[in-house]
Amino acid sequence: MSLRLAVTGATGRMAQEVVAEADERGDETLAVSRGAERVDGFEVSPADDLPTLLAEERPDALVDFTDPEASVEYVAACAEAGVPAVIGTTGFSDDQLDALRRASDEVPVLHAPNFSRGVAVLTDLVERATRLLPDYDVELTETHHREKRDAPSGTANALLDAIEAERADAGQDSGERVHGREGVAPRDDGDIGVHARRAGGVRGEHEVLFAGGDESLTLAHRAGSRRVFASGALDAAEWLAGRDAGWYEFEEVLA
Ligand SMILES: NC(=O)c1ccc[n+]([C@@H]2O[C@H](COP(=O)([O-])OP(=O)(O)OC[C@H]3O[C@@H](n4cnc5c(N)ncnc54)[C@H](OP(=O)(O)O)[C@@H]3O)[C@@H](O)[C@H]2O)c1
Repeated sequence: MSLRLAVTGATGRMAQEVVAEADERGDETLAVSRGAERVDGFEVSPADDLPTLLAEERPDALVDFTDPEASVEYVAACAEAGVPAVIGTTGFSDDQLDALRRASDEVPVLHAPNFSRGVAVLTDLVERATRLLPDYDVELTETHHREKRDAPSGTANALLDAIEAERADAGQDSGERVHGREGVAPRDDGDIGVHARRAGGVRGEHEVLFAGGDESLTLAHRAGSRRVFASGALDAAEWLAGRDAGWYEFEEVLA
């Protein structure tokens, strides 16, 4: 099925991957930007006109990889116009996430901090390791390119949430999320160390270390290019188009 998609943040790295991937799939894109009028050869509509564009063009979905404040505004426009929204932006506050959830009363909304299939499998494996290695120390390290704004990454937070949820189900104390260490900083039982590295052009790496007395296990994922996230987001858009209003997860797309 070929789609018609609004793509926000047109000057952004992810939006350009989404447009390129959509082009390869034969999907049509309506690119939207706060400032630019043209991006690398394709026409762009102003973000201020998004409500009109959605109402007149009625795309199958909007795909958004921008900034939390902008995403909340764009999803509100989707709710108004009845357009499904696929959101890849990370770094939302609880209030901003509530705003996205409110929009899902009106239209289908799917937010995922990571649209890679490999990371979905990593999350499953991390949950399994948490269950089977209950007393092991856990340390999470993520690495991203130097321009990434939020830390730790949305994917790291989702992995931490998954570990804590598994521990809670097992009646186990999760301790604190300890962000880096300095000086005299012994580890307390149950704490999860969190380390965010920012360097060069790294696309996205996540590694979870489970260490017991005499052994350690490392589960890791590396994204080779941004295309993997664009591809997952377009799979999500295809899956979401035409569904009832509601809040959906990327795992449902993969299932
Ligand atoms: N879910 C996933 O799989 C996944 C994968 C990679 C990245 N991400 C997330 O996707 C988001 C975008 O990443 P990116 O690497 O594409 O970022 P980027 O290159 O900085 O692009 C973001 C674009 O968003 C637009 N924007 C609108 N309002 C903005 C604001 N208030 N501040 C800054 N930019 C604003 C801008 O485009 P215009 O000026 O053209 O509107 C900007 O170029 C980030 O939150 C990142 O963490 C998610």
